[in-house]
Amino acid sequence: MCGIVAYVGDKQAYPILIKGLHRLEYRGYDSSGVAILNGKLNLYKRKGKVNQLEDFVENKDINGTIGIAHTRWATHGQPNDENAHPHFSQNQDLAIIHNGIIENYVSLKEELISRGHKFLSETDTEVLIHLIEDIQDNEKLDLAESVRVALNQVVGAYAIAVISKDESNKLIVAKNGSPMVIGIGDNDFYVASDATPIVEYTRKVIYMEDGEMAILEKGKDIILKSVKNIIHTPYFQELTMSLDALEKGGYEHFMLKEIFEQPISIRETMRGRLRLGQGIVNLGGITEYKNKLMNAKRILMIACGTSWHAGLVGEYLFEELTRIPVEVEYASEFRYRNPIITEDDVVIAISQSGETADTLAAIKMAKEKGATILGICNVVGSSIPRETHAGSYTHAGPEIGVASTKAFTSQVTLLTMMALMIAHEKGSITNSRHQQLLNALDAIPNQIEEVLKTNDFVKEVALLYKDSKNALYLGRGYNFPVALEGALKLKEISYIHAEGYPAAEMKHGPIALIDEQMPVIVIAPKKGHYDKLVSNIQEVKARKGKVIAIVTKGDTEVRNMADHVIEIPEVEELLVPLVATIPLQLFSYYIAVMRDCNVDQPRNLAKSVTVE
Ligand code: AGP
Ligand code: GLU
Repeated sequence: MCGIVAYVGDKQAYPILIKGLHRLEYRGYDSSGVAILNGKLNLYKRKGKVNQLEDFVENKDINGTIGIAHTRWATHGQPNDENAHPHFSQNQDLAIIHNGIIENYVSLKEELISRGHKFLSETDTEVLIHLIEDIQDNEKLDLAESVRVALNQVVGAYAIAVISKDESNKLIVAKNGSPMVIGIGDNDFYVASDATPIVEYTRKVIYMEDGEMAILEKGKDIILKSVKNIIHTPYFQELTMSLDALEKGGYEHFMLKEIFEQPISIRETMRGRLRLGQGIVNLGGITEYKNKLMNAKRILMIACGTSWHAGLVGEYLFEELTRIPVEVEYASEFRYRNPIITEDDVVIAISQSGETADTLAAIKMAKEKGATILGICNVVGSSIPRETHAGSYTHAGPEIGVASTKAFTSQVTLLTMMALMIAHEKGSITNSRHQQLLNALDAIPNQIEEVLKTNDFVKEVALLYKDSKNALYLGRGYNFPVALEGALKLKEISYIHAEGYPAAEMKHGPIALIDEQMPVIVIAPKKGHYDKLVSNIQEVKARKGKVIAIVTKGDTEVRNMADHVIEIPEVEELLVPLVATIPLQLFSYYIAVMRDCNVDQPRNLAKSVTVE
């Protein structure tokens, strides 16, 4: 969480910093701030969104060619003006921005207080800048060395950027556990939590590693070293992301744009990998580990939130196609128990951002215990792909809306390709069935285009249910995870309480909730357990519940029972999640818009959960 941007060079820093904050606002948006050096250190910060900060700095001195900026997702202390970043040192000569948590901040704070330090905020971050100042004053070190010594006393996760009034061309940055990218310009440096604020200025970047710090001085080469003071050789990489992908492109919200992008994003996921002519799936990133995966005694899918739902679909896919047992784990639970992991286990870690702290920690634990770790991530160069043994990127393009949409369908697409590749190698499905499924998967983007035509109708249905207090989502088999995902989408962006359930479980509890006010969304394609779902729908209707059913085109049986039906094309049972998810995304989107909710930046949430 939290977005960090910093700049040093010969351009005006403020416009670069503010634009960068807007790009990173998905990471946190409860308060924001900026500090710019121009002889003196001007620091402005405000509770609220980045545009509130922009209003606040109007008519203030924002000149300067070095600065740091932050958009916050609070962990320590409420979102208010005082707790917003940047934070000053006591003498106000130094300023810091920080993403992460300083775990030992309480003991450090007590010690600093006993030495006369006074704190203005409740954050852990302010303690770190006072510590740096304390070291600088007592040990008479320069800024970089003071930061380095301070970091050796710190326990926790951080990505920080520090500037000092006395070293006005120098930016000190460091990373441990939180992401940090450095862009190398002609005569300047750009720093950010991800590459999106950097890409329009330079494509040459360094992804910092844990335990590294860098001294970025205008007109000089970067100095990269470990906090233990060992010089590192920078590894430069080239950014490939397109600038257009970061804009809304005519849509009212990023979420809607991303929903409509799915035919393209899924094609991107499959590009060059699904080779119909050759009748194979080729996932170059994991070729080396193909045998390991084929011979795995067990596969563990580890993820959080929507990515965990993709993992559940993956469980059904892998077990059916490859006959390898699969377990799906919440990363946050997995990491804190004492799970049985062996060298014959393959862990598939799924994450859009590639930065989710719990997922990252779970990977590290499984790796230590000898498992093979494969990643399915969207953000290229993020932390999880760098921690795994191998993996495949989803290539869905930047997902900016906090509610995950296209990342989910790309994750499911990739899991389908992976399962098909292994099943083919193992011979657990016949060649003809394999080819049939490849063809079916290849047709999915066009079928999603069909589903997107239900947009206006879904909007009409949403209008009828926008004031609901609760909603129930039901599905069986492959569509149980779809029900969970539909419910998560609704609650996170419209703040309506929603539950996803395996349809048959309804009678074991949730049925008690059903009355004439209650929308029940049933994913009921003419595949799998259709007849059983029909009975479940009847049970809901018998209790006067309102049924919105997702059905296969041409279905008449459910149409006669349900209050509303949304049609999806007929697809293979194991591919239904890819099409059935789309109307549920649209339904939540329109309900949230009609309730005047902030669709792209729902309250209390952040896109990239880099704290546990
Ligand atoms: C999805 O809409 C959520 N906002 C959230 O559950 C998300 O999927 C979760 O935080 C995992 O993120 P990741 O995929 O980046 O690891
Ligand atoms: N711990 C810091 C704060 O609460 C940074 C939060 C974060 O990175 O999410 O302000």
